[in-house]
Amino acid sequence: MLVTTKEMFEKSMKEGFAVGAFNINNMEIMQAIVDAAHEAQSPVILQASSSAIKYARINYLMKLVEAAVEQYPEIPIAIHLDHGPDFETAKMCIDNGFTSVMIDGSKYDFEENVNLTKQVVNYAHSKGVVVEAELGKLAGIEDDVNVEASDAMYTDPAQAEEFVKRTGCDSLAIAIGTSHGAYKFKGEAKLRFDILQEIKSRIPQTPIVLHGASTVIPELVEMCNKYGGNIPGAKGVPDEILHQASISGVSKINVDTDLRLAMTAGIRKVFVEEPSAFDPRKYLTPARELIKETVKHKMVDVFCSANKA
Ligand code: G3H
Ligand code: 13P
Ligand code: ZN
Repeated sequence: MLVTTKEMFEKSMKEGFAVGAFNINNMEIMQAIVDAAHEAQSPVILQASSSAIKYARINYLMKLVEAAVEQYPEIPIAIHLDHGPDFETAKMCIDNGFTSVMIDGSKYDFEENVNLTKQVVNYAHSKGVVVEAELGKLAGIEDDVNVEASDAMYTDPAQAEEFVKRTGCDSLAIAIGTSHGAYKFKGEAKLRFDILQEIKSRIPQTPIVLHGASTVIPELVEMCNKYGGNIPGAKGVPDEILHQASISGVSKINVDTDLRLAMTAGIRKVFVEEPSAFDPRKYLTPARELIKETVKHKMVDVFCSANKA
């Protein structure tokens, strides 16, 4: 059933698990995600960035979402705008049937972020849509960054409290050490659970979101490299840390990079093992299967959202 994230987050906060939010760009990725959600009996958030919407086209994406909801009526499915850059994009998504939007004002100063977020919240709430906002900078935090400089990049708990009060946003993305893409850490992977706990104690009713939370699954990176890829030194957030986050008050965990790696690894393998293959179904079928297994693993073993549908 097509839902907002309200109820799934309420359940996640009460029962101590996280809902996975997976980026969609085409039919195969989308099918893989909802097949996994069905097999795991997990709630799921499908999210599209503005570049995904540009690529796949919003009406095609919404028809795919409609098909998924029809196929799996028992699974709570939310369709969410990832990193909405401005009011107009958020409005377009709301007007096209998205049940949740993110407005990413983290690139602006605090006051501007508050004002933009409030504008989106007012419109979204008038249409029954929920809003995720972001506070803090998600840039990669490297080993040699000094303590003061790195502290400035994390979300400030006092500011988070003020931000949520003033904007009325429904969930908040925070910066505690994650970053987007396949190169998240140079040294040891570490998240600031102390900051997470401080934020949780100040805004206990607000669901917390982690961006840049792919594991960068080593087996998938190896598979890409084995079959002709060149992705050296890739490193993500280990499963154990994500599991800890899932049971420590994080309600939504965003995953895109791991899906990209799975798709690429699956396609590369067929291309190398069967150079004569040129039927897209031949190389997209194993890629779709690999994405499904990747998503299911997260739901069952890492986020603990299996059987919470
Ligand atoms: O956080 C960003 C997501 O990975 C989406 O990336 O803008 O390339 O679709 P994208
Ligand atoms: P990853 O790059 O770690 O998959 O993060 C995705 C994300 O945060 C999408 O908003
Ligand atoms: Zn993100």
